[in-house]
Order: sequence, then structure tokens, then C-alpha cells
Amino acid sequence: MPQLPGTDLTVSDLCLGANVFGWTADEPTSFAILDRYVDATPSPQQPFVDTAESYGKGESERILGAWMAERGLRDRMVVATKASPLEKEHPLAAGEIVAAAERSLRNLQTDRIDVYYAHYDDATTPLEETLTAFDELVTAGKVRYVAASNYSAKRLVEALETSERLGVARYSALQTHYNLMERPVFEDELRDVAEARGLGVLPYFALAKGFLTGKYRPGEQIDSPRAKGASVYVGERGDRVLAALGQVAEAHGVPLPAVALRWLADQPTVVAPIASGRTVEQVADLLPMQDLVLTDEQRRLLTDASA
Ligand SMILES: NC(=O)c1ccc[n+]([C@@H]2O[C@H](COP(=O)([O-])OP(=O)(O)OC[C@H]3O[C@@H](n4cnc5c(N)ncnc54)[C@H](OP(=O)(O)O)[C@@H]3O)[C@@H](O)[C@H]2O)c1
Repeated sequence: MPQLPGTDLTVSDLCLGANVFGWTADEPTSFAILDRYVDATPSPQQPFVDTAESYGKGESERILGAWMAERGLRDRMVVATKASPLEKEHPLAAGEIVAAAERSLRNLQTDRIDVYYAHYDDATTPLEETLTAFDELVTAGKVRYVAASNYSAKRLVEALETSERLGVARYSALQTHYNLMERPVFEDELRDVAEARGLGVLPYFALAKGFLTGKYRPGEQIDSPRAKGASVYVGERGDRVLAALGQVAEAHGVPLPAVALRWLADQPTVVAPIASGRTVEQVADLLPMQDLVLTDEQRRLLTDASA
């Protein structure tokens, strides 16, 4: 069962990406997606939703908050959000972090954030200041665990050493770009850091923006604001990966994206891949990853195809 190392959080195999809420999924559809996802999460796993203040300028958090309030499900959920004051000169200055956390708590209609990420590194603010501000939120009970997103290996090590030296809350997880089409960013350096320091990894764009669902094929027109980003993977390597996914998916009788997510979930240090769907039907295609067991040979086939 996926456990976020160094925490008491037992989370679902799939972390549900919420950047679609208020963007490609309207509020009623977002509610239906959340209902479907929670129904499919077996206890004692906790449904794990990933949002950020910057998603739809708070709209994603607001929709998630409204849904939790309406369903009375806050205590069942693990809620991750991110301090994203991107437009600020010093995004991770102490005052910005505290103000951002208060806005997120209001949007989410909750008194605590389970996992609070620094959305992006901020080289203009001393790590001491950022980490002390996060620690104060933890001490106040407004945040349970802090985590890093989009940090380089070097800065992540610096951050971990800084929190150790100061005796403050450390980043317990790393959110990073990682999937079958995008491996070096994580595998070349960050993975070693995560392994050596006991960090849990939550890969985002787990479906390569939709490419790993198999719907992007030469000549196909896909109606999605993500189509431009996902189309960069169309080509010889993409064909190899989709063929391998297709072969494994057929052997198990599951949709392609479920196989892509299971491969990612099986990689060392990965706790749960983060992926979204903009309809209930799309999310239903992802959920079979929860019970899917790949053979070593199938895992190797996918790894080799994506090399
Ligand atoms: N930390 C960061 O900087 C960062 C950056 C990006 C994302 N994230 C997080 O990671 C999460 C996942 O990333 P993502 O949602 O952007 O990308 P993704 O999971 O790689 O791709 C999801 C998209 O693929 C398409 N899709 C999914 N299932 C499908 C199916 N069965 N059939 C056809 N199409 C399907 C949908 O888009 P269409 O229908 O529009 O094609 C869906 O929104 C986000 O929600 C967010 O929480 C974090």
C-alpha cells in the first residue's frame, strides 16, 4: 500500500490531478470525477488529490473545497496543494508563503493542508527563510507535511541539509516531471537524491499530457488545450512506447493509460503517479492501474521501448 515515507499518510495508488477542475472540467463534472475516484479508492488508502493555488487562479482549490464540504469528506482525503505566488518578486519569501497558505485554506474550506509544496524553487529567497516559514505553518497545525516541486537535485540537497541544520520540518516528498516519455529529468540525478534521503516521489504529467493514452497518432486531430504539448511525443520513439503499452494492455485487458501509470508506480522511490482526466470516463480508464500487476518482462519491455 503506498505510504508517503516519513509521514503517517497511506495514500491511493493514483494521485488525482486537479488542474483540470475549472479548466477543462466544469464544476459538476469535477464533482462527478471526484465521486468516481473516491468510490474506487479502497480503505484504508486515502484518496489523494493534487492541486495548486495557481490552477485557475484558485478555482481548482475552490471546486475541491466545495466538493469536500458538500460531501462531508474532508477527513477521508489527503489534500496536497502548492504555494505558487509566481507573479511575486520573491515567491517563497516568508510573508508570501504565509499569505498563500491562508488563501489556500480558505479556498479549500479546511483548517489544514496535508502536503504543502513549494511549487517552484525560488533562488531569490534564502532557503533558511523559506523553510522556517514552512516550519511555522507546521507548528501552527495549518500544514501537516511540506514538500518540494520542480527542484533540481543540487537545490533539493541544499534544502534538506538546511532544514536538518535548522532543526525545522524537512521536505518529505518531491513532485517532478516523470513519465515513460520523460525519464532523464528524474532518473539522471533526482532519483539518487530521493533514494539516499528517503523522499517519496510523486511524478506529474504521468500520462505525458495525454500522449500515453494512445490518442495522439499521426494525422489525428485532438480537441484539447494540451494537444500542442502532447503532440511533441508523436514520432518513432512514441510509436515504440505506444506499441509496447498496447501489447501489455491487451495481455491484461486494461486501457493503455492504466499500464503507463502502473509502470511509473513501480519505479523506485515513486509513491503514486499524478494524473488527471477531464471526464468520468477518462478517469475510469486510469483506475485499473490500482490492481494491475506487471511481470518483470512486461516492465522491461516498457522500459526498453522508452529508452
Ligand atoms: N508540479 C508541477 O509543476 C505540475 C505540473 C503539471 C502538472 N502537475 C500535476 O500533475 C497532474 C497531472 O498532470 P496533467 O493532468 O497536467 O497531465 P497528464 O496526467 O499527463 O494528462 C492528463 C490528460 O490526459 C487526457 N486523458 C486522460 N485520460 C484520458 C483517457 N482515458 N482518454 C483520453 N484522454 C485522456 C486528459 O486531457 P484531454 O482530454 O484534454 O486531452 C487529461 O486531462 C495535474 O493535474 C497537476 O495536479 C504538477
